[in-house]
Amino acid sequence: MVHEVATIPGDGIGPEVIDAVQPVFDDVSERFEFDLELVRYDWGSERYLESGSMMPDGGLDELAGYDAIVLGAIGHPDVPDHVTLNNLLLPIRKGFDQAICKRPAILFDGVESPLEGYDGGDIDFVVYRENTEGEYADMGGQEHPGHGHEVAVQSAVFTRTGTERIVRAAFEAATEREGRVTSITKSNAQAHSMVFWDQIVEDVSAEYPDVTVERLLVDAASMDFIRRPEAFDVVVASNLFGDILTDIGAIITGSMGLAPSANINVSGEYPSMFEPVHGSAPDIVGDGVANPLATILSAAMLFDHLGETEAGDAVWSAVTDQLADSDAPRTPDLGGSATTAQVVADLRTRL
Ligand code: NAD
Ligand code: IPM
Ligand code: MN
Repeated sequence: MVHEVATIPGDGIGPEVIDAVQPVFDDVSERFEFDLELVRYDWGSERYLESGSMMPDGGLDELAGYDAIVLGAIGHPDVPDHVTLNNLLLPIRKGFDQAICKRPAILFDGVESPLEGYDGGDIDFVVYRENTEGEYADMGGQEHPGHGHEVAVQSAVFTRTGTERIVRAAFEAATEREGRVTSITKSNAQAHSMVFWDQIVEDVSAEYPDVTVERLLVDAASMDFIRRPEAFDVVVASNLFGDILTDIGAIITGSMGLAPSANINVSGEYPSMFEPVHGSAPDIVGDGVANPLATILSAAMLFDHLGETEAGDAVWSAVTDQLADSDAPRTPDLGGSATTAQVVADLRTRL
């Protein structure tokens, strides 16, 4: 079986973590006997600074034929973030209808949470983030500079199709887990979008009588991610709320450097994309100490998606094993002093 995967290393530590995963791809495809054809696209901010565009015209058409995409990170200190992200990362998620963003938050054995009293296994939930609309719909704002009465409009769009799709995915996931869904809204303030969301949660929940539903406002949820993270199983949230909550999910489970994600195109018509939750981390770029595990766990999610579940399990267990070993190298974000390369070299011995 041949899997064709496009890689977009991107900016900052993106290329560092993508280079780190490369040997893991080689090891796993050899061991589990499948062909992985990786094609690298050096699109991103360096390209923008040279040529004025993040990717070539027709870039999405170029990617459309792949089985999947793996992305490092996008974001450069010399280019405004809204330019870089709205011309590469977000067009891929939207253009390929990657409506379901799945972001696990797991406190692994051997990893210290900043929350006192939490040990490995105590936190284990997954956030289902709506990924193509909501607050990121970008219907076009309006600014009228110059006369002192400017107005900026940033509209959010919630469709029944999009909302039902993410809510249903969360309920489905709950049936395979502990049977609990927490729906996050701000329906006390946002009377249109979030009340609509609540109604859809109610409709869909009727089809899943065995799944318990909890509703939380996003401000209270942010508190409860810290106060009682053990209480969550499947969390479903809009694009922006899911974005914010998954950074909290990452840090309470040890580090941004451990949090993986999958952007899934449900129909299979377009490639899905796998990427760490973190960004280009300009504060550590070039130091060789970026934690590669978020990207490696994202690769494990890629293997599962490609149907190579043995490979996915093997990568997941190698990471679990490494983190549980107090003698294993770890990067500074996890309290160690190892380099990216040392972590990868050690991981390969466990694969
Ligand atoms: P960030 O995730 O890049 O960094 C936040 C903090 O986490 C930093 O202290 C960083 O050093 C640390 N960190 C992140 N990844 C790490 C890793 N693998 N190992 C060790 N430490 C790690 O978030 P930010 O600083 O808000 O954003 C930086 C840039 O990245 C911005 O341009 C932003 O727009 C962009 N960004 C891109 C993505 C993406 O491409 N998916 C995601 C988030 C942010
Ligand atoms: C993420 C990132 C992106 C998002 C940014 C960089 C546009 O923060 O993947 O979590 O908000 O989705
Ligand atoms: Mn984010």
